[in-house]
Amino acid sequence: MTHREKQIALRRVRDRVPPPTDWWERLYRSSNIEQLPWYTTTLDPDIEAGFEAHGPVAGKVLDLGTGPGTHAVALAGRGLTVVATDISPTAIAKAKALARKHRVTIDFRVDNVLNSELGGGFVDAIVDRGTFHVLPPEARPVYVLAVRRILRPGGLLFLKTFSDKEPGDEGPYRLSPGELRGYFREGFDVLSIEDTTFQGTIEPAPRALFATFRRR
Ligand SMILES: C[S@@+](CC[C@H](N)C(=O)[O-])C[C@H]1O[C@@H](n2cnc3c(N)ncnc32)[C@H](O)[C@@H]1O
Repeated sequence: MTHREKQIALRRVRDRVPPPTDWWERLYRSSNIEQLPWYTTTLDPDIEAGFEAHGPVAGKVLDLGTGPGTHAVALAGRGLTVVATDISPTAIAKAKALARKHRVTIDFRVDNVLNSELGGGFVDAIVDRGTFHVLPPEARPVYVLAVRRILRPGGLLFLKTFSDKEPGDEGPYRLSPGELRGYFREGFDVLSIEDTTFQGTIEPAPRALFATFRRR
């Protein structure tokens, strides 16, 4: 992906194209995924710490909006049973290839969280690194209902978003701790919301929030 193509991709995110659209599919078809802003090969340190503090040692974890699949692969490499979904079939195909390369087994599915076909109480934990924060405000309550349904009672949601402390409006939406508390008020207990950064190909790493919620 050239610098210009990357700028165009970032501008499209900034223009807030609301899903479901084929926008993500076209992005993954036309991109070198290693140059996407959120691409990182290592397990996000906040997710790693979250799992150490609260995460299930066994059971099923959903990587929601897996994109390149790097986090699904990292979690499967730690011995967890992983389901990974994305709205883009090409992202899922590329993530499957990565899983084959790393010789890990992952249940990959094309799935739109806003109209999810996953069953109720399907997983013990959900990891969302960067999906909630690309959804337009009107879609967020639909997302909350979906993750509430998909998580078993007592299950955990590890959520990473851009923070309202990140300047500008390029890229995904910014969220404040108060907004996150508001969206997840029904049906979730807030275990923590921390200031952090969002690792990827953007330097310096944008300011972010990492929240851990427990499904009541
Ligand atoms: C910022 S990327 C993050 C990808 C990945 N979690 C990571 O950290 O590398 C957001 C991802 O959400 C996916 N996505 C966007 N809307 C979605 C939806 N409604 N349902 C499922 N996935 C969606 C996109 O295709 C994209 O892969």
